[in-house]
Amino acid sequence: MRESRLWFWHILSAAVILVLLGIHMGIMHLGELLHMAGIGSGDPVDSSQVFGRSRQAVFMITYILLLGAGLFHGLYGLRSMFFELSLSKSLEKLVGGVLAVAGIALFLYGSYVAIVVYQMNGV
Ligand code: HEM
Ligand code: HEM
Repeated sequence: MRESRLWFWHILSAAVILVLLGIHMGIMHLGELLHMAGIGSGDPVDSSQVFGRSRQAVFMITYILLLGAGLFHGLYGLRSMFFELSLSKSLEKLVGGVLAVAGIALFLYGSYVAIVVYQMNGV
């Protein structure tokens, strides 16, 4: 039951990544291509553009969503790969615990950064 629920979240997180990473890549690369062609407002990774986006609530929220979905999907997938090695139950528990703690720590740190930058008034 627990495994099938986690698997459901794994698939759901893949759908979230598909959409949000698609938009993220579109912003990062199409913007640059348009800029190179002389269209658009500038290099998407220029600090003024990065901070301009990061100070909008919609970006802050979607950064945190993509961060959570990416971390869960990647680390749960990694856990599945470890579990295919027929480890002992206690080792499986250890691997699951270490990955969960690492994921939660990275999620808290990344969310903290997104929120702090969102609240900044200038650079
Ligand atoms: C468009 C984005 C993505 C889609 C649609 C997608 C979809 C999937 C699907 C359908 C599975 C198989 C689930 C299963 O076996 O039941 C999977 C597994 C996996 N994904 Fe993704 N994924 C995406 C992005 C990513 C990213 C960005 C990462 C790395 C952070 C990642 C890491 C993994 C890993 C490690 C596995 C497990 C592989 C295994 O069990 O052998 N995926 N993904
Ligand atoms: C060449 C490819 C990429 C470039 C140039 C890029 C660039 C950036 C930049 C400049 C930001 C800061 C926010 C902004 O300016 O909008 C950002 C944030 C972010 N990117 Fe990417 N990115 C790339 C690929 C990826 C991939 C593959 C993933 C995940 C699978 C990803 C996930 C994220 C997340 C989660 C954030 C928000 C992090 C936070 O605020 O804690 N990016 N990216």
